[in-house]
Amino acid sequence: MFHIRRIFSCLALALTAVALVAPVSAGESLDMKLVQSHCAACHTFGKSEPHGQGPNLYGLIGRKAASASGYTYSSAIAKALGGRVWTPELLDAWLADTQAVAPGTGMTYFQDDQPTRSHLVKYFENLR
Ligand code: HEC
Repeated sequence: MFHIRRIFSCLALALTAVALVAPVSAGESLDMKLVQSHCAACHTFGKSEPHGQGPNLYGLIGRKAASASGYTYSSAIAKALGGRVWTPELLDAWLADTQAVAPGTGMTYFQDDQPTRSHLVKYFENLR
């Protein structure tokens, strides 16, 4: 009887652990799914992966805008953002309307949906 009780309490603990972990990983995979469907056509995200139509975005948050080596940026983004550092706030503004942040940039993207933007931004905050 004692053993059975112990097995049940272990099982309960295990189930609690799964319940605590599951929502986080589900959130992470939603961030990743959105990035895959909205950004992966033009960008890569892995460390030292080659640039696509757009620059590789590994380590974006905290790095200087328009600074990925080996990528040729438009003068529009270099002029508008040159010297600034990517923060979650700047990335949110960029994703809301790239052309408002850097008129004439080679990336045209408008995302009006705030929750979608915050998932996209969260993916890059965790990409280090
Ligand atoms: C149709 C292609 C395309 C898509 C889709 C796209 N981008 Fe871009 N992106 C570009 C190009 C091209 C540039 C370079 C812009 C320039 O030089 O003016 C760029 C630049 C950027 C930059 C500036 C990077 C730096 O080094 O300063 C960020 C940040 C960025 N994109 C994020 C995203 C995110 C996040 C998504 C998905 C929501 C996305 N992009 C979707 C083509 C794209």
